Amino acid sequence: MSPEYSELLRQRIAEVIARYPKKEAALLPVLHLVQRETGSISPEEEKFIAGILDLKPIKVREVVTFYTMILRQPLGKYHVQVCSNLSCTLLGAGTIIDYLKEKLGIEIGQTTPDKKFSLSTVECLGACEQAPCLMVNFDYYGNLDKERIDRILASLT
Ligand code: FES
Repeated sequence: MSPEYSELLRQRIAEVIARYPKKEAALLPVLHLVQRETGSISPEEEKFIAGILDLKPIKVREVVTFYTMILRQPLGKYHVQVCSNLSCTLLGAGTIIDYLKEKLGIEIGQTTPDKKFSLSTVECLGACEQAPCLMVNFDYYGNLDKERIDRILASLT
């Protein structure tokens, strides 16, 4: 059974596929289009997308699980991504992660029950001079400590 996509999404998928000489080349843009409408890519959507692109479902699964920007479950309103790479780890990312887990009451990869916050770790955010740092959706925050975390969370309504 195919997912309940809007007519506009179905039209956009067809337009994207038509831009490529081979259907399979449209896989990433189609995944982005679907995720924009649904919030994530479910196993049923993987099968549906595989079908329209003439791919084996395992090929779609490989791509979905490889790219961290492709979500397998919807995120909360605020996606808190803490850098866990070298500079940030050396300057206290572990403490920041533990504090966020405690404050939000969730583990890495989880979303709060009210769907407000999702918590992830990521590789270098390219802001090492402000380590330790994190992103909330598309905003960067650096030079983190517990007080700054408190202020950041309090500002997110
Ligand atoms: S190591 Fe954290 S931003 Fe580069």
